Amino acid sequence: MSYVASRLSVVKPSASMAASQAAKALRAKGVDVIDLGLGEPDFPTPHHIIDAAHFAAKAGQTLYTAAAGTPEVREAIAGKFRRENGLDYTADDIVIANGAKQIIFNALMATLETGDEAILPAPYFVSYPEMVKLLGGAPVVVECPETTGFRLTPALLEKAITPRTKWLFLNMPGNPSGAVYSQSDLKALGAVLAKHPQVLILSDEIYEHILFDGREFVSFGKACPELKDRTLIVNGVSKSYAMTGWRVGYAAGPAPLLKAMSTIQSQSCTSVCSIAQAATVAALNGPQDEVGRFRQAFERRRDLVVDGIRKINGLTLSPPDGAFYAYIGCASLIGRKTPKGVVLDDDAAVSNYLLNEGRVASVPGVAYGLSPYFRISTATSEEVLTEAISRINAAVAQVE
Ligand SMILES: Cc1ncc(COP(=O)(O)O)c(C=O)c1O
Repeated sequence: MSYVASRLSVVKPSASMAASQAAKALRAKGVDVIDLGLGEPDFPTPHHIIDAAHFAAKAGQTLYTAAAGTPEVREAIAGKFRRENGLDYTADDIVIANGAKQIIFNALMATLETGDEAILPAPYFVSYPEMVKLLGGAPVVVECPETTGFRLTPALLEKAITPRTKWLFLNMPGNPSGAVYSQSDLKALGAVLAKHPQVLILSDEIYEHILFDGREFVSFGKACPELKDRTLIVNGVSKSYAMTGWRVGYAAGPAPLLKAMSTIQSQSCTSVCSIAQAATVAALNGPQDEVGRFRQAFERRRDLVVDGIRKINGLTLSPPDGAFYAYIGCASLIGRKTPKGVVLDDDAAVSNYLLNEGRVASVPGVAYGLSPYFRISTATSEEVLTEAISRINAAVAQVE
């Protein structure tokens, strides 16, 4: 008899972490694998942020902090929302957690009753449905096809809402598709949501700075201020400041929700690492030029990958508008055979083939709720990406 709680039976481990583990296992056997599974910036955290952490540790900022975060970090976050997003929040309207992931987990734990529905436009970030299920909710997956730019439309949203809908998840720029919503897209979704007061909105804006072709980021909060009392804006320093390992995510939202999230935080992990909080203050209040440099590097890599993948017969790729992934269509490979005679039944088989024969780790589209695709992370050097594309090309060319 297993001692593992039954609630775990519906939850899968993270697919992107699994892809990375598979790549590591092959590497341990001496196989030269390029790991494009996990998405994290390959740049070092900017120096002034590391210096601030060092200083904080030496200055004795080494104690537990308030569950919602230090006054300094919440003030810095409120300042960021004002400056960059035109949103009027005070420090009291902000909580932090160990990454945006924990923010989302706390928000769901604070609100979901068994059977409550969360609308997840697909392709979605792999952790959304698993967190919803773990906390007793029911993911309602809405496939958003490539023909609509992988974006949720008002008609699709209207159709998905029921009296049990508790949350709508939005993610822009989106992981894995890079989809971005314009102000008018968001207003149109807002008009639907205005008719359904039971629906809370979680807008995951963690990739906001990684936006291409001169686009301006519009926060859901800015586009739909009339929904402020049921909108949770989620963000963090992981992606913008190359700080994935520091584990700081934050959110702005309505007081009753934040209070419940802080209670959960105080009874689970107490607070975020005090030193990482000091580093976050430096990230948000300090010079922003490296954020711009990272963005430019990601755009060059996006261009390189779009150009390379589009030359491969059998694969398709719509240029992502943001984030650092390419969601590559592989419909024309499905049903075909590898040189070893294995039929590529689905995108999981394609991703597996690319790993074992092409020596490139990717994540199959099935993990994101929209097939047949596979995702590669473009958060690595241009040399590595060029080599990966050449390996993918060679592997695809051998499919009969
Ligand atoms: C859409 C999205 N939200 C949240 C996260 C997690 O961010 P954090 O490192 O702040 O937990 C990721 C990380 O891959 C992501 O892609």
